[in-house]
Amino acid sequence: MSKLSGKTVLLIVGGGVAAYKCLDLVRRLAERGAKTRVVMTAAARQFIAPLAFASLSGEKVYDDLFSLTDETEMGHIELSRSSDLVVVAPATADLIAKAAGGLANDLASTLLIATDKQPIFVPAMNVRMWLNAATARNVAQLRADGCGFLGPVEGEMACGEFGPGRMIEPLEIVAGLERILEQTQPQALLAGPGPLKGKRAIVTAGPTQEPIDPVRYISNKSSGKQGYAIAAALAQAGADVTLVSGPVGLTAPAGVRLSKVETAREMLAAVEAALPADVYVGAAAVADWRVENAGARKTKKGAKGPPQLSLVENPDILSAVGHLPAKRRPALVVGFAAETENLVANARGKLQRKKCDLVVANDVGADNAIFGGDHNTIVIVDARGADAWPALPKREAAQRLARLIATRLEQKR
Ligand code: PMT
Repeated sequence: MSKLSGKTVLLIVGGGVAAYKCLDLVRRLAERGAKTRVVMTAAARQFIAPLAFASLSGEKVYDDLFSLTDETEMGHIELSRSSDLVVVAPATADLIAKAAGGLANDLASTLLIATDKQPIFVPAMNVRMWLNAATARNVAQLRADGCGFLGPVEGEMACGEFGPGRMIEPLEIVAGLERILEQTQPQALLAGPGPLKGKRAIVTAGPTQEPIDPVRYISNKSSGKQGYAIAAALAQAGADVTLVSGPVGLTAPAGVRLSKVETAREMLAAVEAALPADVYVGAAAVADWRVENAGARKTKKGAKGPPQLSLVENPDILSAVGHLPAKRRPALVVGFAAETENLVANARGKLQRKKCDLVVANDVGADNAIFGGDHNTIVIVDARGADAWPALPKREAAQRLARLIATRLEQKR
């Protein structure tokens, strides 16, 4: 049975030639047991008569923000909230720009900011419009806001030009919506090539182990979950990812190059070997110190009492990457700050000292199970200020960070 069975899809039809494909989309959704409520923009009505959608969907078609009858039958808030999926197809440059800017001057754009769902945009436009800098900015903004994108693909346009901008076919839209409902992939990363296509990323994860002797070591409670989730999210967004990991019990995410290390010095060497990169994310809990006088043999209990361990400072990998000369430094250096007090102030100190672009600050205080747990509560600290995120499963925090990274890289271009 299709994941769409029993679902209600709010289909916002924009004004483009590809609107005709949405008639078939309504049919395909109905075949899978989904109900479609159609909202048309004024421009969409220039291409298709509302009656065609009403006949195929068996539902009233909505197009007027100020219709008294519609508001008494079903208010626009209810229209947007009572749907399981909000799909914009064809998503024109105009609708995308309105959504990115939060405009609400007709029913379609009002619904997009009134909804409690993450809208899914199915773009269709001329190749020049799709490649235009303003459209790229708007798409990046919507992706960063958590919206999904299905397509566009390359192909011949109704205007005779060839290139990216062509709307994907109704059956591909249906398959994309089913994938979203299965939640096997984050919505925003379903855009085909992905926003980080062509970018190289290095992510460090897990603890390091600093030997005391061949069988003992100093380490910490990092499980690697947060770093591995970040590597997975960046790879899903299209990046070529090298994950430099300390000893953990996790398997490498699909499509990620894994470099296993034990000590901080090995981690530094592995990071240097993986450079150059566009993005560096230091999620590893690197031991600040190592034992200077680590024994080559197992230390024995004896009359001399407990051994005296002499500690020396480990290299700071994040700081080394942050201070690389401009030609070799990743465009975006993302550090972490694991703090038990003064979260933002300490993170800001690390931002400056280690020359990062962003610091992901997490409070790892005693009653907080971030080390080893499945959730994280993050504050993003950068030169602009501090942005507190809600508590999220580490996978979702990673996806949100991947979107932020894509946006920041886009802004640096
Ligand atoms: O692995 P999990 O169980 O999922 O837990 C996730 C986490 C708590 C480990 C993660 O969210 C986190 O906070 N990672 C950073 C832990 C840490 O070592 O923080 P710090 O404040 O001590 O270090 C600041 C930054 O400098 C970090 O980016 C760290 O990777 C880096 N660093 C620190 C020391 C050092 N010698 N080299 C470094 O690169």
